[in-house]
Amino acid sequence: MILQIMKFFLDTANLKEINEARSLGILDGVTTNPSLIAKETINKKEIKNHYISICNIMRNEEDVSAEVISTNYEDMIKEGEKLSLLHPRIVVKIPMIHDGIKAIKYLSNKNIKTNCTLIFSPGQALLASKVGAYYVSPFVGRIDDVSYNGLNLIKEIKKIYDNYNFKTKILAASIRHPLHITECSKIGIYAITSPISVIKSLLNHPLTKIGLDKFLMDYQKIR
Ligand code: E4P
Repeated sequence: MILQIMKFFLDTANLKEINEARSLGILDGVTTNPSLIAKETINKKEIKNHYISICNIMRNEEDVSAEVISTNYEDMIKEGEKLSLLHPRIVVKIPMIHDGIKAIKYLSNKNIKTNCTLIFSPGQALLASKVGAYYVSPFVGRIDDVSYNGLNLIKEIKKIYDNYNFKTKILAASIRHPLHITECSKIGIYAITSPISVIKSLLNHPLTKIGLDKFLMDYQKIR
């Protein structure tokens, strides 16, 4: 049974966009990745403070995924622990690789929340959940890009997690258009993470504009 409305995370490291989503009243969390951080006008030394600034915009239960750069176990756990100490809202994003799985297990045992990223198959999602990932991030749009159906992956992961009552939350990533969002909500996953432009495109329907224009025109006829 679904107990709450699907959450909307913003996939960005841009403070202006995060504030805009907050002012719209739709912000449930933020996910970042190294490519998104690279779009911001900050240098490497400023990245940690940038994560803290993002966390400071958040309220209530909202969290912020910050990704490790290391790819070996020892460095990943060190980096993950450091990131988690930056702010209580930080969730450590770890790539779905051999040492990443070990790092997720280690961090989860220390009660540090993790987001297992770069998920492209149900088997990867199964592994991530077995080692205690708090979130998995299946990349819907990037699967569509190579002529497969990204939403099928979301359905398969949901089925597997439901079968075993896994606690790992599905956070659909690489969201490219409004149908990705509405279809994910039909599947009934925990959250999507999306650029603000895609979330705002949920607003649009030509009949809404035509209808409003007519209402306003008719109002002018009233004496
Ligand atoms: C996921 O956490 C990633 O940040 C992101 O959703 C990737 O999206 P893209 O495929 O549009 O880069």
